[in-house]
Amino acid sequence: MVAASDRLIDCHCLQRPIFPDKTTHAERNTFNMAKKIVLSGARPTGDVHLGNYFGALHNWVRLQDEYECHFFIADWHALTTGYADTENLKDYTVSLIADFLAVGLDPEKSVLFLQSQVPQHAELFLLFSMNTPLSWLERCPTYKDQINQLKERDLTTYGFLGYPCLQAADILAYKADFVPVGEDQLPHLELTREIARRFNYLYQKPVFPEPKPLLTEAKVLPGTDGRKMSKSYGNTISFADTPEIVQQKVMNMVTDPARLRKTDPGHPDVCSVYAFHKIFSPDEVATIRQNCEAGEIGCVACKKQCAAKVAAFHGPIHEKRTALLEDKPYLLSVINKGSAKAREVAEATLVEARAAVKIGL
Ligand code: TRP
Ligand code: SF4
Repeated sequence: MVAASDRLIDCHCLQRPIFPDKTTHAERNTFNMAKKIVLSGARPTGDVHLGNYFGALHNWVRLQDEYECHFFIADWHALTTGYADTENLKDYTVSLIADFLAVGLDPEKSVLFLQSQVPQHAELFLLFSMNTPLSWLERCPTYKDQINQLKERDLTTYGFLGYPCLQAADILAYKADFVPVGEDQLPHLELTREIARRFNYLYQKPVFPEPKPLLTEAKVLPGTDGRKMSKSYGNTISFADTPEIVQQKVMNMVTDPARLRKTDPGHPDVCSVYAFHKIFSPDEVATIRQNCEAGEIGCVACKKQCAAKVAAFHGPIHEKRTALLEDKPYLLSVINKGSAKAREVAEATLVEARAAVKIGL
């Protein structure tokens, strides 16, 4: 057999070697010419809002062409903090599928799936939980933070402590090369890398690669009150909001508190409307700053301008998600197909993992 490397010799003038038609997928893999694997997840804990979109989803959409993407709804993760209140879990799961599709995630390009439909995540979580030292989990910075922040919930549970192990299983079941995450998730990804390394070392088999963070540019959109946009602050604009609500929310946004009259010079950098303009009106933002600082534009006019831009972006996505939610069988078929594909990929990894552990017959 002719080695694939021999066929590539004359391709150095090209950025990407061209493979003869008969090259098998496996051969391409050995040359890393196959697309790299990306994985990320979102919890079904509320309506997707503009903060989620600009923080994560909009990057996911852009990654779809360049990478072999796997995006999933992390419903087991939702249980780690929300085990006592599962009333809305199914509804949020369905509407998250609609939001995924409405913002442009494409089931033809990416594997879109539901975590609880892929039991391999749970099995790998079990294997990892056997050999992950408690101290790794206890020193995870989000662990104590969240216990203190979410005082109304009892988070002194086994599942909550072990959630980084579940996240490691999510990522490693697909042997992901890259995980697009925000900075707050970096410690969890580091833990995933440690868990992978420990498994490979303990069983002396290089089953798991160490995934890297994909720190894509995240645009920060504040909430309507200037704090971080978050469901718990009640300052969100979500794709579920009607255009009328969106208009109202923008018109009620917090501006520069020192500005009482139109002629007062404004301070755009402390104004949440200005932060919106930076994202939604990139071409006009310099003029808006000038006019604001010179006291030549009133906040009401400025907000109206902002509301129109937000509406132009939000409206079509809102309409699409509303239409999708009317066709629940379609949404379920998308997620069922994606989950079947995910099970195939994850099962192949589990075959290797079980063999490495020497569990079963
Ligand atoms: N922990 C993430 C969150 O709270 C969701 C998540 C679960 C995830 N598993 C993941 C993200 C794996 C990236 C990779 O939003
Ligand atoms: Fe904010 Fe616009 Fe008012 Fe300036 S004019 S403070 S940017 S709303």
